[in-house]
Amino acid sequence: MKLIEIPPQIAAQAAQLRDQINRHNYLYHSLDKPQISDAAFDALFRQLRALEAQYPALVTDDSPTQRVGAAPLASFSQVRHELPMLSLENAFSAADLEDFERRIKARLETDKQIEFVCEPKIDGVAVSLLYEDGKLVRGATRGDGTSGEDITQNVRTIESIPLRLHGENLPSRLEVRGEIYIAKRTFAAINHEALQRGDKAFANPRNAAAGSLRQLDARLTAKRKLTMFCYSVGLVEGGDLPATQWGILHRLQTWGLRINPFIEVVCGSSACREYFDKMATQRPELDYEIDGVVFKVNDINLQRHLGMLTRTPRWAIAHKFPAEEGYTRLLEVEFQVGRTGAITPVARLEPVKVGGVTISNATLHNMDEVARLNLMTGDRVLVQRAGDVIPKVVAVDAAARPADARAIVLPDHCPACGAEVVLAADEVIARCSGGLYCSAQRKESLRHFASRLAMDIEGLGSKLVQQLVDEGLVNNPADLYRLTEAQLVALERMAPKSANNLLMALEKSKATTLARFIYALGIQEVGESTARNLALFFHDFAALRAADDEQLLAVPDVGPVVAGRIRTFFHQPDNQKVIDELLASGIHWPQVASSDVDPAALKGQSWVLTGTLSVLTRNEAKAKLQSLGAKVSGSVSKNTTCVVAGDAAGSKLTDAQQLGVPVLDESALLALLAEHGVEVA
Ligand code: IVH
Repeated sequence: MKLIEIPPQIAAQAAQLRDQINRHNYLYHSLDKPQISDAAFDALFRQLRALEAQYPALVTDDSPTQRVGAAPLASFSQVRHELPMLSLENAFSAADLEDFERRIKARLETDKQIEFVCEPKIDGVAVSLLYEDGKLVRGATRGDGTSGEDITQNVRTIESIPLRLHGENLPSRLEVRGEIYIAKRTFAAINHEALQRGDKAFANPRNAAAGSLRQLDARLTAKRKLTMFCYSVGLVEGGDLPATQWGILHRLQTWGLRINPFIEVVCGSSACREYFDKMATQRPELDYEIDGVVFKVNDINLQRHLGMLTRTPRWAIAHKFPAEEGYTRLLEVEFQVGRTGAITPVARLEPVKVGGVTISNATLHNMDEVARLNLMTGDRVLVQRAGDVIPKVVAVDAAARPADARAIVLPDHCPACGAEVVLAADEVIARCSGGLYCSAQRKESLRHFASRLAMDIEGLGSKLVQQLVDEGLVNNPADLYRLTEAQLVALERMAPKSANNLLMALEKSKATTLARFIYALGIQEVGESTARNLALFFHDFAALRAADDEQLLAVPDVGPVVAGRIRTFFHQPDNQKVIDELLASGIHWPQVASSDVDPAALKGQSWVLTGTLSVLTRNEAKAKLQSLGAKVSGSVSKNTTCVVAGDAAGSKLTDAQQLGVPVLDESALLALLAEHGVEVA
């Protein structure tokens, strides 16, 4: 193979592009102060990629183009930490904090006020990053504190982690420690998608972050939008660092690393307590989970004097927020059957108040989880609630097990239809094999069909679906459109007015969109966004029905598994019949002609959404703006094209006004979308 000679001006140009891209990445991710538009950034990125494609020898492994694409690993290798990764002692009260300060003063034999750095305690995954001569050479999990797993390929995909540090006086070897996490918003989106695919949801953002980070295929990590706050250093060789924790954190920031914006220096334990109260108030506003705050002696020399116990330093303490947990008794386990037949054990609990909310049910996920918890009916259990996540049983009080506790056994027949329950060899989720003969599966499919993001049939909730199926009036979605007033009025608790309302809602639902219709069909693994991609790609429902694997695989986000599910679904004679009947009943949608929507109409523009919208959800508005080529960003800068402000818009609106960025209300946004041919209904 002939090596192409790289002209020096090309090498210089590539180096310059890399510097520019790294700088803007830093401004955007670490400082939250972008200076150029996303479009301008993309343009720089494309130029660099084009140069590297033309001259492959130009590619360096710290080039910003090399974040994704490493081949999947067979397993993670172990990494021994050169300095152990410590954990923290916990404080639970103001008195604990005073004790902490007293111990420090006694050990240092001083009466002087102690300076503490206060930091939020990020609820994510602790990692260590090793930089050699400024270059990221290794990322590792904390593991047991002594050794962890090598997750270099995964951390390289995280945009807020620089592949190369910049600036002065870089140590030749520098180990940076911090917390990788998933924003609440991203977590909600991941779980929403997972549930729609019929997959298990992550219990909390920390699990989602850990699961995303421990992917052997780093391309999956890249999709999860992880991010990181750095909070300390480990090994430092060949260079000096400032003499305070505060100084070190800010030095890390100048080198390109991301630190938390709420870090403060205070004097004495009562000021620490004030910081704790302030962060407790701030907590719901933050876009990431914190489970408390951390106080660290600011002076590194004092830290050295204080030293450490076996696993925890004497100079730091975590002050945790009170847990949203409580003990209660497991009265019964019921098995629920989902839309795809998945059988989920659900705990019926003696009602207990946790974080101000009474809990009487909790999910147990699957039988593996029941086994992992070693749970029996009658047990005293610890339940936990995290934000709007479904409450869950997190532990069993084995010592309090009553003599009459009963084992929890997966039924071998479906509690709804009696069909056999099967547990495939490679699955943890047991499924009812009754398919559409199973009334529970039918009910769930109908509920899904009628749900807000699908056909949006107002008034058709779980209770009514249950009645309709139990009375034998409805077996599949097409039956819904054959319901008559007489049939409905004959139902218990159904007044003529409600019957009429339902018929009107059914009629109204017939005017829909292709994406909603596809989603409503409830094809396994086809969530809302996949349905949207399918609609955008095929435009025509008949084309989707007839699509082969090759066409399906060309759709963004559709892999072999999803393609298989879609084909199987459309080949199934019962499904074909129901679909034909649905179409014959008059369900229709506006033709999505490829030429109608110009995917580059708003190219180069950066939009910000804030406040509560009433017609669209924020996610819908975002997707629609993106379909016109706009970028939708989370913060307002002078490069923001436009801010859309809904009800109760906060600081982003003020930012826009201060920077002179145009502000639209929702109706103006709807008008603009309609003008560009984007469906709004
Ligand atoms: S300092 C000796 N600072 O909390 C220093 N830890 O139990 C040890 N964490 O494993 C860590 N935010 O995963 C520190 N600002 C912060 C933190 C933090 C979250 C986690 C970290 C650690 C655990 C301590």
